[in-house]
Amino acid sequence: MKTAIVTGATRGIGRGIATELAKRGYGLTVTARNTADLESLCASLRSSGAPEIRYSAADLADRDAAVAVVAEHERGFGSLNALVLSGGVGTAGPIGELPARRFDKTFAVNVASAMAITQAALPMLRLGAGHDPAHGSRVIALASITGVYAEPNLAAYGAAKAALISLMETLNAEESAHGVMGTAIAPAFVQTDMSAWTTDVIPADSMIRVADIVAVVRMLLELGPTASIPKIVIGRSGTNGYQA
Ligand SMILES: NC(=O)c1ccc[n+]([C@@H]2O[C@H](COP(=O)([O-])OP(=O)(O)OC[C@H]3O[C@@H](n4cnc5c(N)ncnc54)[C@H](OP(=O)(O)O)[C@@H]3O)[C@@H](O)[C@H]2O)c1
Repeated sequence: MKTAIVTGATRGIGRGIATELAKRGYGLTVTARNTADLESLCASLRSSGAPEIRYSAADLADRDAAVAVVAEHERGFGSLNALVLSGGVGTAGPIGELPARRFDKTFAVNVASAMAITQAALPMLRLGAGHDPAHGSRVIALASITGVYAEPNLAAYGAAKAALISLMETLNAEESAHGVMGTAIAPAFVQTDMSAWTTDVIPADSMIRVADIVAVVRMLLELGPTASIPKIVIGRSGTNGYQA
């Protein structure tokens, strides 16, 4: 059985990816903060086809709790084919006024947790790559187009996503020769709760669909181990392709 860990799995992009993996028969470990949401997600993933599901509630701002999610997966499955890092927070504000605690929280949730989880999961990812030499194993991190092209008011969020992209590039440089590949997906606005604040300016139906991100993940999981894609930028139709 192939297995995956999905963070931020209860809503939005993470939920879409977890559901796709369930349909493909992956054993899953899922996480977010809200336990009731995780329990109802597990029921839904089971009915979508996941043969075995585990969950561990964690605030990604808490490094120990984040690493405990990996331990939960190890207890249940022992190896790992796909690590999907979708849990994240957005924050907005100009550099001149952004409170330091908002900057720190953004980096803790969006970057430090990704580093800690990837580090803890590496031995299982290497094992997973060994069990599936036709594909290797993949870390797929949800970054953002703002981590590639800066936007006013998104300094903390954009810098955190740029760091996440760099982390995936370095993972490739270090591990891809041995079958563990990293990819940062960097989309413009996607139709989820996270982008709801801006739908009066950018209509929800003009945003990228969760299904489109899921299609990219499906493609990544079908690649062979000699194909490595460190970063995929997804623009929003109707823009110049360089803005959220
Ligand atoms: N939507 C967009 O426009 C967009 C564009 C580009 C990139 N992204 C990135 O894509 C990823 C997924 O975004 P989304 O739109 O799917 O977000 P979403 O709909 O707001 O869902 C976020 C998920 O992450 C969990 N989460 C939030 N804060 C957390 C924390 N501190 N610790 C643990 N889990 C936490 C949430 O569950 P709980 O609240 O229960 O914890 C939920 O499951 C994020 O990294 C985001 O930055 C989104």
